[in-house]
Amino acid sequence: MFAERVLSGMRPTGNLHLGHYHGVLKNWVRLQSEYPCFFFVADWHALTTHYETPDVIEQSVWDMVIDWLAAGVDPNQATLFIQSKVPEHAELFLLLSMGTPLGWLERVPTYKDQIEKLKEKDLQTYGFLGYPLLQAADILIYRAQHVPVGEDQVPHVEMTREVARRFNYLYGREPEFEEKALEAVKKLGSKRAKMYLELRVAFQERGNEEALEQAKALLQEAQSLSMADRERLFGFLEGARKIILPEPQALLTSASRMPGIDGQKMSKSYGNTISVREQPDEVIKKIRTMPTDPARVRRTDAGDPARCPVWQLHTVYSNEETKQWVDKGCKSAGIGCLECKQPVIDAILAEQQPMFERAQKYLDDPSLLRSIIADGCDKARKIAQETMREVREAMGLAYD
Ligand code: TRP
Ligand code: SF4
Repeated sequence: MFAERVLSGMRPTGNLHLGHYHGVLKNWVRLQSEYPCFFFVADWHALTTHYETPDVIEQSVWDMVIDWLAAGVDPNQATLFIQSKVPEHAELFLLLSMGTPLGWLERVPTYKDQIEKLKEKDLQTYGFLGYPLLQAADILIYRAQHVPVGEDQVPHVEMTREVARRFNYLYGREPEFEEKALEAVKKLGSKRAKMYLELRVAFQERGNEEALEQAKALLQEAQSLSMADRERLFGFLEGARKIILPEPQALLTSASRMPGIDGQKMSKSYGNTISVREQPDEVIKKIRTMPTDPARVRRTDAGDPARCPVWQLHTVYSNEETKQWVDKGCKSAGIGCLECKQPVIDAILAEQQPMFERAQKYLDDPSLLRSIIADGCDKARKIAQETMREVREAMGLAYD
């Protein structure tokens, strides 16, 4: 119905590390050539947990965008913007909040988890409770179909779907909807119109999901329809409602677990990270001082890669041949640990090389960065404004 769009956001709460690169950014880079992508800096979301230390956010915003660009996110393909520069997100958040049951927010698993986990912060706030609803507004305002997120964010996308469904149910009424929908059917041309109506009956009377999908595909292809008619026909398929805010889908990032320099998952809270643009001498130092299999006290002691965090990094960075060399050399004490670490160091430095090069352009000329974001904000804002016009109208707020 709506142009296929991908939307995702990231909170600017510190340096991006190689876990972000392998887990998120590589995926964004792949998606940007497949779909129109919208990637944004979720600075308001960062404030929900960092309202006492906003300077952290301020410092991270531009660095984070540089990291995205360094990783290969291409501003000529994807639209990059900052959440707070598109204030329509806040308006939609407010309007959605009117009809969102408190229970939906309290039930989101991240809510209680995070309050528990971030004990040093007082998250008993209105803003933090509203976090997933703000995220719903971020997604729905672009009527995005696909939302690439990690496992932990799936409940937020699920809630977004519920919010959209409820919104369409409450506000998707239109005077003479049925008549208008039938008029729109005619515009499909007689052959398509007949098929559409048959598929609709198959779904509504017999619950045939496949028919529903076919009918949606048919609408997707029908070029003769205006935007409003298309929305009506999508709504007409499933009931007598107009779909104003379509339901998005989570696009699960394949769970590539990036190990940190202690073998646990790489994460800022474990203090085991390597930044996307970590200086080479720091990378070398961090890897060289990494713990290894405790059984290898002396160079002559044999070890077992299964008990060594360095091995975890080999599984990310090394080919079969190198991994065999490690396995054999470790178990026979044929290689030393520093020797074993060298291919990992080389691979990380090689991975970072093009990132440093891409970043340099923006470090040399920050105005380039500002203009990419300014353009992205303009583009995002146009779409957001269009959605808000329809939302206000549907909610009876178009008095002028
Ligand atoms: N909550 C997301 C995270 O912590 C960030 C985010 C905010 C987001 N708004 C979004 C992600 C909209 C996807 C879509 O990672
Ligand atoms: Fe770990 Fe490699 Fe040393 Fe074995 S040789 S303990 S895998 S660093």
